[in-house]
Amino acid sequence: MLKLVVLASGRGSNAKAIFELAEENPELLTVEALITNNPNAGVLEHAAHYEIPAHVIPVVRQTSREATRHYHETQIQTVLDAISFDYICLAGYMRILTGQFVQQHPHPVWPCSKIINIHPALLPAFKGANGYEDAFEYGVTVAGITIHFVSPEVDSGPIIHQRYFKRKAADSLDAFKARGLVEEHLGYRRTLLALATDSVIAKQNPFQLFLS
Ligand code: GRF
Repeated sequence: MLKLVVLASGRGSNAKAIFELAEENPELLTVEALITNNPNAGVLEHAAHYEIPAHVIPVVRQTSREATRHYHETQIQTVLDAISFDYICLAGYMRILTGQFVQQHPHPVWPCSKIINIHPALLPAFKGANGYEDAFEYGVTVAGITIHFVSPEVDSGPIIHQRYFKRKAADSLDAFKARGLVEEHLGYRRTLLALATDSVIAKQNPFQLFLS
């Protein structure tokens, strides 16, 4: 049984896909908690609907940026300390985690963290907060999404799963994003099912993961 904690900041469609997956596969997955930094996040409604315990931890400014991040992560850690879980799933979590926080959550078997992120581009291309916008503006004809383990360096951890989609000539940015979002939800579902059923195979040196 894979126990998950989901961190999300906004609309929460990826979080909803995870909650739904857990509801459909109660013998494989459970979501122990949702943590959000945004009291107005749409994801809170999804958590309520799926009866997932939700923790709202707003960012409280301290004397410096570092102190703010540290204080916020300490509060998150306090919630995590009370929960037993296997993976933290970032699902549209719009804050960058510190290297210190990432290193506090090592994977029990593989040389990576046990924090998973979804990124709206085919890494290592288009890192950063605006993956869809950047890929669209660049003019890619094939785009995609990446599910990867989080490392201290942003958008750079080991890739678990990628899915691609083709941009259509008539695509507006919104249509392009909608095409990608479908793949995000499928990608998170596929990844978590594979982890829950031990069908992720890790090859080391270089560290590569394969979904079987
Ligand atoms: C997704 O596109 C995710 O990849 C990105 O932010 C968006 C969040 O969407 N980081 P949602 O909140 O899961 O609907």
